[in-house]
Amino acid sequence: MLVARVLVGVTGGIAAYKACELVRLLVKSGHDVMPLITPSAEHFVRARTFFALARRAAGDDPYPHLTQADLLVIAPATANTLAKLAHGLADNLVTEAALAHRGPVLAAPAMNPRMWAHPATRANVETLRERGVDIVGPGEGDTGEGEWGIGRMAEPEEIFRRCRELLGETDTLRGRRVLVTAGGTREPLDSVRFLGNRSSGRMGVALAEEARKRGADVTLLAANLSVPPPHGIEVVETPTAQAMLDAVRAHADADLVLMAAAVADYRPRNELQDKRAKDGDVWQVTLEPTTDILRELGSRRENGQVLVGFAADHGEQGLARAREKRVSKGVDLVVFNDVSRGDIGFDAPENEVVLLGAESEQRIDRAPKDRIAAAIVEKAEELLRERA
Ligand SMILES: Cc1cc2nc3c(=O)[nH]c(=O)nc-3n(C[C@H](O)[C@H](O)[C@H](O)COP(=O)(O)O)c2cc1C
Repeated sequence: MLVARVLVGVTGGIAAYKACELVRLLVKSGHDVMPLITPSAEHFVRARTFFALARRAAGDDPYPHLTQADLLVIAPATANTLAKLAHGLADNLVTEAALAHRGPVLAAPAMNPRMWAHPATRANVETLRERGVDIVGPGEGDTGEGEWGIGRMAEPEEIFRRCRELLGETDTLRGRRVLVTAGGTREPLDSVRFLGNRSSGRMGVALAEEARKRGADVTLLAANLSVPPPHGIEVVETPTAQAMLDAVRAHADADLVLMAAAVADYRPRNELQDKRAKDGDVWQVTLEPTTDILRELGSRRENGQVLVGFAADHGEQGLARAREKRVSKGVDLVVFNDVSRGDIGFDAPENEVVLLGAESEQRIDRAPKDRIAAAIVEKAEELLRERA
């Protein structure tokens, strides 16, 4: 899962206007939001507002999303909707989603204190809690109608925090700058041809997403990705080894650097300005070495930066070379990836790696790249904590 898909159900209470802020916070942090607005809620805030905040076309069909979401959050949740949820009614998009959805459900009730205190509402909330629905708030305060008591919807920031917890997102990298490189560089031979490699960028994108989920401020240096970059992070296009080098230098003060891109070790010495004509002659190309970015970073870093390199190599000998690489390039952690196997690694959705550290080595069994990314970032975080 790269971007969490969140259904935001809005029901007919005055607090509906606060759901705008919730949608904004979710979108800003990179989540894919589908608003579900009840007909009553439309009396308070138009669905069009929520779709604009979710960066969706107003006519987007919500139905395909109902069964594919990672989280359903209902804010505000009216007494009426809580009653329907408790009894399994499905007469609008929000209540239909609640029955169709299989992931976590979060409800943020909002109503006047007498409605909240009523035995019917108490029983409905209890039923929902027993069924595993997460209830946030309501808090004590002034309700929209000017009454004091318990019934005021939890603040959007609090609901947002709870959403992140339910999605397994944490703040362990909050305030940290993380630089990730991803993809494979292409070194031009002429105006249309290049020397490239098979890296898709999936591993680097998964790492960037994992760091974002942990609250980091992430910059992704993207070299010809064949997968979309995550939302909610800064993306800089770095198509060639030189562009990658320049961008890495510009961001070299990051707290954590994850160098997952396959950067060319050699590039054509002379790039032809136009397309070389097909004349039947042999085309001899001279390749010159590019700057070793990892080595440069390893020799210059300061401020307790944690540096993670990647080694794509073959078998046991490759593993031995990766161990040497960690020491010779001054890297904290090398992620070894056996590219002699066709089922993992380059351009595959799964990977199996060995994390080579100074103190220990850890084999991560074959798993989807997002799980591998979580293990790598976890280890890097450990090293950051040790530095602190
Ligand atoms: C001005 C106004 C404010 C309302 N505020 C709330 C509220 O805060 N909480 C609530 O449970 N119902 C509130 N209601 C009642 C709901 O709108 C009503 O129960 C409606 O049927 C809810 O439909 P829904 O749950 O499908 O959105 C309010 C009604 C009006 C006219």
